[in-house]
Amino acid sequence: MKKILVLNGPNLNLLGTREPAQYGHETLADVERLCREAGDRLGVVVECRQSNWEGQLIDWIHEAGREVAAGTMLGVVMNPGAYTHTSIALHDAIKGASVPLIELHISNVHAREAFRHHSYISPAARGIIVGLGVKGYPLAIEALVRVSEG
Ligand code: DQA
Repeated sequence: MKKILVLNGPNLNLLGTREPAQYGHETLADVERLCREAGDRLGVVVECRQSNWEGQLIDWIHEAGREVAAGTMLGVVMNPGAYTHTSIALHDAIKGASVPLIELHISNVHAREAFRHHSYISPAARGIIVGLGVKGYPLAIEALVRVSEG
């Protein structure tokens, strides 16, 4: 069975208590459960990781690139958190590792502050899911499965 890696970036470990008006009341554990359930439905193994460290996220994207090349992984669903708006290094990692990646944001970043309107990730992403709350995670997993089917 092929794998999908779900990566959550900085501050997403605080889900549930962090600005619930923006991000809802579900915790990261709830999100990861939703992701694994989506994987069960779709016949893929979903592995979830979270880090507050940019370099760790980059290392995981490189690792995913090797697994995609080996044919054991479909790609990555990633909520890069605030690194979305700052990280050329993450952009380069996604492109450099040739990883099919769905960028995901829980909140509608385009309806928020201007500094959230630009993403360094989007030009390197296969697709984007924005503003659908944590329900976006299972949708992103399904999207990755469907686009991988060709
Ligand atoms: C976020 C949006 C980002 O602007 C913010 O920095 C986050 C979360 C979202 O899921 O809506 O940490 O990626």
